Amino acid sequence: MAVFISHSPAETIAWAEDYAKTLHAGDTVLLDGNMGAGKTVLAKGIARGLGISDEITSPTYAYINSYADKLFHFDCYRVLSERQAIELGFSDYFAAGGICLVEWSENIAGLLPENCKRVHISGMGDGAREIRS
Ligand SMILES: Nc1ncnc2c1ncn2[C@@H]1O[C@H](COP(=O)(O)OP(=O)(O)OP(=O)(O)O)[C@@H](O)[C@H]1O
Ligand SMILES: [Mg+2]
Repeated sequence: MAVFISHSPAETIAWAEDYAKTLHAGDTVLLDGNMGAGKTVLAKGIARGLGISDEITSPTYAYINSYADKLFHFDCYRVLSERQAIELGFSDYFAAGGICLVEWSENIAGLLPENCKRVHISGMGDGAREIRS
């Protein structure tokens, strides 16, 4: 496990851009951390590292944002049951061969693919974050 201390959103994005280079098509990365820790900031950096130039916005209300069928960004905070997740087609996204980033994956634990990668970000407010990968 590696630990990185980020001092700003820009440093978190830069770290995530480098991390993205270690990913392969079909990988699922669970982005763990409390509300406001910086999971979506990590997703922005990973997208940038994958060469995706679209603006990355939080999929909190849409559940999943898709970027060129290459990157799928899930926010499961409001997913109430695995049954609902199945109805939303989550399993199809995991099987689509892109890279999946999942916030609040604990809400869909039973639907996650095997061998997920995990990045944990912790810290609050303006300032430092600890990123474990
Ligand atoms: N070092 C840092 N790294 C990342 N974000 C930081 C850092 N310092 C401050 N921030 C701020 O923390 C906030 C992180 O917000 P973000 O939406 O990424 O959180 P989240 O973990 O996705 O939350 P949620 O669970 O609500 O989706 C942003 O406002 C960002 O500017
Ligand atoms: Mg988020």
